[in-house]
Amino acid sequence: MLKKWTNRKEGETNGSLDLDPRNIPNHVAIIMDGNGRWAKKRGLPRIAGHREGMNVIKKIVKKSNQLGIRTLTLYAFSTENWKRPKPEVDFLMRLPERFLKSELPKLTEENVQVRITGSKEALPTHTINAVEKAIEDTKNNDGLILNFALNYGSRHEMIEAMKQVYKEIDRGRLAVDEIDEKTVSSHLMTGDLSDPDLLIRTSGEIRLSNFMLWQLAYSEFWFTETLWPDFTENHFNEAIQVYQKRIRRYGGV
Ligand code: FPP
Repeated sequence: MLKKWTNRKEGETNGSLDLDPRNIPNHVAIIMDGNGRWAKKRGLPRIAGHREGMNVIKKIVKKSNQLGIRTLTLYAFSTENWKRPKPEVDFLMRLPERFLKSELPKLTEENVQVRITGSKEALPTHTINAVEKAIEDTKNNDGLILNFALNYGSRHEMIEAMKQVYKEIDRGRLAVDEIDEKTVSSHLMTGDLSDPDLLIRTSGEIRLSNFMLWQLAYSEFWFTETLWPDFTENHFNEAIQVYQKRIRRYGGV
């Protein structure tokens, strides 16, 4: 069933020689799904899937940088993920720290800029400290933007944007008739980031799960049944190949 989204057997491509370097997506966003199922299939606790998922991130960041992708947004924790059992949430909240502890020197060296999209308030202090250090240490890097969507939910983001816009109107800084797409975009948590050109979701689920509802308006979507911990550079390459074959019309003809 998923074959209609792709042109060849999943993961079959090799390297990136077959990609058109002039048509690399500027911004790729990924819903990294299937960690729990990956672990269950192996008789392991769910957290083992998240740990493996973190290792996949390392490979995809490297590949994104090599390909010249400007922004990679990874949906790491949604505003709805707090509903999970506490030990799983606690583990997920330790992952940014773990990841950055081992990867920050390399990211700095490779000119990667780390960012977070989401609400920091509800995050534990240890998570905030780790991500703030990474943001600070890499803020002058102008290579790949590695953007973690952490405690992110698109509806919450839109509500917050509406409140901000309303406050500006209330203070006389903005007139209602002046509100346009730019006004809304600039008040979203993604701020100055361009909209994703390509959205990838793993694990066979075909839904957005409250992810970047505004920003994905004209993005190309690529779904795979591969579970995130099994996702490889070849799958990533394949997604970009499929993207390069799409004709983007933005509502035109
Ligand atoms: C969804 O799979 C995955 C998540 C909610 C967490 C994703 C997190 C990572 C891949 C690691 C994050 C690492 C850093 C550095 C921030 P699921 O658990 O819903 O899988 P399931 O649908 O099979 O249960």
